[in-house]
Amino acid sequence: MSLLLALALGYLLGSVPWGLLLTRAAGLGDIRAIGSGNIGATNVLRTGNKPLAAATLALDVGKGALALWLAGQLWGEQAGLAAGFGAMLGHAFPVWLGFKGGKGVATGGGVLLAAGWWLGLAAALVWLAVAFSLRISSAASMAACAAAPVVALLAGRPDLALFSAGIAALVVIRHRGNIARLLAGTEPRIGRRS
Ligand code: G3P
Repeated sequence: MSLLLALALGYLLGSVPWGLLLTRAAGLGDIRAIGSGNIGATNVLRTGNKPLAAATLALDVGKGALALWLAGQLWGEQAGLAAGFGAMLGHAFPVWLGFKGGKGVATGGGVLLAAGWWLGLAAALVWLAVAFSLRISSAASMAACAAAPVVALLAGRPDLALFSAGIAALVVIRHRGNIARLLAGTEPRIGRRS
């Protein structure tokens, strides 16, 4: 029962579309009509408003981390992981937006950070390394997510390897459009305006 409650709590926290709320509040219109149409920080950056993109990143990371931490405090470690996955589902399929949400990278980063700081840090470092070399956010995101299960396995945490593999799978599924653009060579570079 507590796992279901944790999943629901995580879903609710994850379903808050910060990128959409912040861009609307800033008078920039609907972020879903800009750039890739995604509600995440990368696309908010395409509005040209860096502080808003940073705030979106922080809040999306924060909601993932909060979901796992809060449910962990209330119902234990397994519930924390259930809430973390719930937050991913909430971000990717928010009921408030007709189940059309984001790609779960920042939220997943927050979840991994709360599951194990070393795991979140490793994923963030992979993201930065790929982002600085290729300057393509989606490639960096998928590389970071793919690295997380490997890092968890190397650290002797098969439970977190399985968990982060689930997160990575969801993130990759949500990047289908990006994968098509990467293959076609049309994926935009980080920070390029729409
Ligand atoms: O965080 C999402 C990122 O990996 C891709 O975003 O807007 O380029 O599709 P976007």
